[in-house]
Amino acid sequence: MDKFVHIYEVGPRDGLQNEKVIIPTVQKIALINALSKLGFKRIEATAFVSAKWVPQMADASEVLTNIIREPDVVYGALVPNMIGFEKALEAKADEVAIFAAASETFSQKNINCSIAESLQRFAPIIDAAKKRNIRVRGYVSCVAGCPYEGHIAPKAVADLTAQMFEMGCYEISLGDTIGIGTPLTIEAMLASVLECVPSKNLAGHYHDTNGQALTNVKVSLDMGLRSFDSAIGGLGGCPYAPGAKGNVSTSALANMLLNEGWQTGIDLEGLEKVEIMMGNIMHELEGGIDV
Ligand code: HMG
Ligand code: MG
Repeated sequence: MDKFVHIYEVGPRDGLQNEKVIIPTVQKIALINALSKLGFKRIEATAFVSAKWVPQMADASEVLTNIIREPDVVYGALVPNMIGFEKALEAKADEVAIFAAASETFSQKNINCSIAESLQRFAPIIDAAKKRNIRVRGYVSCVAGCPYEGHIAPKAVADLTAQMFEMGCYEISLGDTIGIGTPLTIEAMLASVLECVPSKNLAGHYHDTNGQALTNVKVSLDMGLRSFDSAIGGLGGCPYAPGAKGNVSTSALANMLLNEGWQTGIDLEGLEKVEIMMGNIMHELEGGIDV
């Protein structure tokens, strides 16, 4: 299938982590169970991060141990350090994702350490994961700009992506954290990254703050990428990236791909139903106020 694009559903993690109302654990589990039946091969279920930093993810272990797993779905989780990795292991995460940033200030604000320190923290995670045959995915944030530093040089993104690839990440997801990328800046960033890492080991993770995410996906497709992250209902944002709005919506992404002749394996009718279910849950939790 040469016209196949992989969609990594990150809604349960990136979609929910920034929601102001705490989503009850049972609702998170119901969401993941429903998503599991739609044809996604990978779902990012949660994050094993400090509950003081991201209260919404405090129930990571409970979520991951109580979902009904489909045999052909990989359930991933974010881990910032060995504490998170051990917890993810205990809760039987199928794969883990380490997350770094191409901006020093964002790295400090998000994970309380420099970029170099973050790589030192990730090295033992990758070693431990390898020993247990657990795949490690990597994220690079701020690939098109930083909420604190503004412009980020494509070379900085490329150097960090190359390091994470060499360390053993099977795929590195390039995060336009604040949705500031345009076709021109995404193209320049990818041109630089592709000098160091093959397209088959890269994914696009584009937030849709400025409505550019789908256009940026198209540019990335033209440059050879075949893996993209998205969130059901376009939920999401990062608590440490002011102004970061939702991820690109999974249904918008899947429909655009279909219209452009790509296969994704996603059940679009089922997706619409889960989107409505999630919309109703959020509406109720937010006190019936339209937001
Ligand atoms: P710290 O305060 O420097 O950590 O935070 P510490 O090592 O000094 O530990 C402080 C306390 O946290 C201790 O507990 C540790 O045990 C505990 P205490 O003794 O005070 O009771 N702790 C943990 N607890 C649970 N799980 C852990 C863990 N580690 C330490 N893993 C830390 C450093 C990395 C922990 C913190 O900064 C953190 O959790 N940050 C996560 C921030 C986050 O989740 N951001 C959103 C995800 S990134 C994102 O959205 C971008 C992305 O989508 C891509 C894109 O869009 O660009 C991926
Ligand atoms: Mg994100």
